[in-house]
Amino acid sequence: MPAQYPPVASRFRSLINAGKFIKNPFPILDKAVSKLGTTYGFYMGGVQKAVLTIDPKVARYILQKHHRAYEKSKIVTEILSKYLGNGLLTNTGDQWLRQRRLIQPGFHRKRIESLIGLMKAEVDAGMINWANKSSGGEMIDAYKEMNMLTFRIIAKALFSDSIQENQLTQLSELISTIQAYIIKEVRQPHKRWWFKLSGIMAKHIALAKGTNELIRDIIRKRRASTTMPDDLLTMLLESTYEDTGLSMEEDQLIDECLILFVAGHETSANALSWMIYLLGSHPDEYTKLQNAQGEAQAALVRNVIEESLRLYPPAWVTDRISLEEDHVLDYTLPKGTTWIIYIRGMHRNPAYWDKPDEFIPDRWNDPQLNKEAYMAFGAGPRLCIGEHFAMMEMQLILTTIVNTWNIKLISKDVVEKPLVTLRPGGEIWVLIEPKK
Ligand code: HEM
Repeated sequence: MPAQYPPVASRFRSLINAGKFIKNPFPILDKAVSKLGTTYGFYMGGVQKAVLTIDPKVARYILQKHHRAYEKSKIVTEILSKYLGNGLLTNTGDQWLRQRRLIQPGFHRKRIESLIGLMKAEVDAGMINWANKSSGGEMIDAYKEMNMLTFRIIAKALFSDSIQENQLTQLSELISTIQAYIIKEVRQPHKRWWFKLSGIMAKHIALAKGTNELIRDIIRKRRASTTMPDDLLTMLLESTYEDTGLSMEEDQLIDECLILFVAGHETSANALSWMIYLLGSHPDEYTKLQNAQGEAQAALVRNVIEESLRLYPPAWVTDRISLEEDHVLDYTLPKGTTWIIYIRGMHRNPAYWDKPDEFIPDRWNDPQLNKEAYMAFGAGPRLCIGEHFAMMEMQLILTTIVNTWNIKLISKDVVEKPLVTLRPGGEIWVLIEPKK
């Protein structure tokens, strides 16, 4: 059938806006939605036709209901996998499904609960550091602190004491250097030839090899050891494929560990940083959390987490490419159509949310709240495997902060920096004082 696209954004206008788009795509995307509708066509890179949607029904059709006809696009996965290998986040097709089936049971809520002790030890150590800093009322950069803490938590959840302090520091530096470079490759495709020619690409591939060898060393030592601690590495080592009864090959295991680091560290760090920023901007909400206890406090904390993830979803966008011609709404889209699912746009659209730009944690108490337009952890079979992990981690950290500190936000008007994930555009300075 001839292709029939939804209203298409002007190619000319996209070219004119290209510079602004790279700086901050949100105003341009939101304006296009209000002008063209919740599903519209555009020219990707000014050349290839693609479709963007914020419509939860369309998004759920692609990610969930008709997911078999769609696959993750190569825009990001190809670049990520060049440096981070073929773990769950970057894998596709049958190989992804086989890995997902293998790893999924280990991320079941009950299994994840057994990691709470490891997490708590890291959070407590982090708070002692804050206490040492804050004897006279000290400032912390919440973004930096949350990055360090979530990195330590995922490292310990994966390897417990099998990772030494110097390895942890080394791994953190390697991963952040590689991630910073990946962002350059994603955002500046026109410079890829230069990255290749100048040896910058090769340098980062070598660094990625270094991370692999570091993880290999930890895995080999664990295999040789007689004790098997209750951590994610043990879970990954003990999981066996349904068809062969065998466990993962070493190289695959390394890729999965590295992907868990990357997928599970920055997202949680961003989410927590935005949460502290939002609570710092709404002191009444912070006091409300401080004044509650037990299950009542836990419920309020969950509301704050959901509301922060709605306003600042770390995974602000995802994409899929169609494997066959498909009919979506009244349109006929050819095989190979790239779909951009703009999660942040969905989370902030007045068609789906009352006062969409306001921070109202209590809205999550409303049993009538339509959660169809909430997709912070994705949807369908590729839903975030770490959702329970992340929720437990964020609840623990937020509750501990609230019960230990009074905070005063110093950095006002922090802007959004949407890279692969949605980061704060700079430091989030917060004055902390022990709670009386
Ligand atoms: C607030 C924290 C987090 C958010 C908002 C988040 C969000 C997401 C989203 C939206 C996806 C789906 C992407 C898509 O469909 O294209 C995803 C996938 C994934 N997440 Fe998370 N995530 C978070 C934390 C974590 C943690 C803590 C881990 C690991 C411990 C993790 C591991 C993964 C993995 C491995 C995938 C790929 C799953 C697959 O494709 O099978 N995430 N995440």
